[in-house]
Amino acid sequence: MKENNRISFGSKFGVYVATVGSAVGLGNIWRFPYLTGNNGGAAFILIYLICVLLIGIPIFMSELIIGRRGQGNSFRVFKNLAPEKPWYFIGILGFFSVFIILSFYGTIAGWTIEYIYLSVKSLFVQTQNSDYTAVFNDFHTSTFAPVVCQILFMIMTAIIILFGVQKGIENCSKILLPILFVILVILCVRSLMLPNSIEGLKFLFYPDFSKITTSVFLNALGQAFFSLSIGMGTIITYGSYVKKDNNLPKTSFLVSLTDMFIAILAGVAIFPALFSFGMSPSEGPGLVFIVLPEVFGQMVGGSFFSLLFFILLLVAALTSSISLLEVVVLFLIEECKMKRWAATVVSAIGATILGVFTTLSFGPLKDVNIFGKSIFDSADFLATNIFLPLSGFFIVIFLGWFYPKKNIKNEITNDGTIRFKLFPIYLFIIKFVAPIAIIFVFLRGLGIL
Ligand code: TRP
Repeated sequence: MKENNRISFGSKFGVYVATVGSAVGLGNIWRFPYLTGNNGGAAFILIYLICVLLIGIPIFMSELIIGRRGQGNSFRVFKNLAPEKPWYFIGILGFFSVFIILSFYGTIAGWTIEYIYLSVKSLFVQTQNSDYTAVFNDFHTSTFAPVVCQILFMIMTAIIILFGVQKGIENCSKILLPILFVILVILCVRSLMLPNSIEGLKFLFYPDFSKITTSVFLNALGQAFFSLSIGMGTIITYGSYVKKDNNLPKTSFLVSLTDMFIAILAGVAIFPALFSFGMSPSEGPGLVFIVLPEVFGQMVGGSFFSLLFFILLLVAALTSSISLLEVVVLFLIEECKMKRWAATVVSAIGATILGVFTTLSFGPLKDVNIFGKSIFDSADFLATNIFLPLSGFFIVIFLGWFYPKKNIKNEITNDGTIRFKLFPIYLFIIKFVAPIAIIFVFLRGLGIL
């Protein structure tokens, strides 16, 4: 088939790094470890893996199919594939998720900038016996510093997006991802060399099934969506940049497996060290900001490893936040005929303004509650556990029940040039398994069932 003249990723490797860059982020290194710590360790990981395999990968592939076939932003694709039908509401739902996720993403990513600064400082100034909880609390509940860090992070994101798809997203991911991988492996080795590290491995890999509750399911499902970047148009948008000769099932499997692998590696980097120093795994969102500095503080060469770790976190966050922003930027370029720079500036400012509220919800706005949760927690819960699975549900319903099977098959097999033996299983999953599982987990998690 002839390539149309839309921009696209330059190579298959480019597609892989860009999508892995989107998937691997704070979700793997900040969210996954703290959820694992809060939800009982190995049992949570097991359910998470099942969610990824059974629901995550098929939806990931569905988004790539919709994006490449529909050739447009995550709103336009549905208009192209199903003219005169209202399926484009999936794209609109996605825009809400983008802004909500970007807002709290910027908060956490901003914290990493502060911690990079603190790590650099402690390389030069001897800081013995610091109270890391106090350091974290002083910083993240204050007004000025966290907001400045968040703005800095959004500026970095916007700069990469300004350079566009190949020069910005693809090239940046190619440079940043290998760095991330190397740092993570160094940290794993360091962590495993500590005394008693075996306890951490047990926590990660030896499931205790009595720890499984219904909220574990909802958290695992939400995490699968969040970590794979599915359910809001990111992978649809990237799919529209994928060339016609790309093997979509292979890309989906490879990217999802890499994403799981990196999350587990993050667990291996964190938990053995944590247990080795006798600390609690259920510290919540502060896990990597309180417990890890403590761990680093007690280690030989701690400041250096701390610096490495927070650079890692920032790099991972950047390759993901660009994929979030690009969803809105492409929409503004294609639908509102804006220039890339204008679209980037407008959407980055929008996300930053919203982000100021989530950032300040730890400090001056901490008493503002929405349904009993802080602004930050509500944003995370609403986007991750509600909006993402909901869009995922509609995406599989659209493909499974309303879009011609022949077209799906053509798109997956690149018009019959490659084979995809699992096609019947894939169809079965998107028609029945995924929608039913999402509804079930959803209703139970919300306490309705
Ligand atoms: N997957 C990224 C992470 O793990 C975050 C992310 C990027 C995302 N794009 C997304 C999450 C789209 C949900 C939807 O950090």
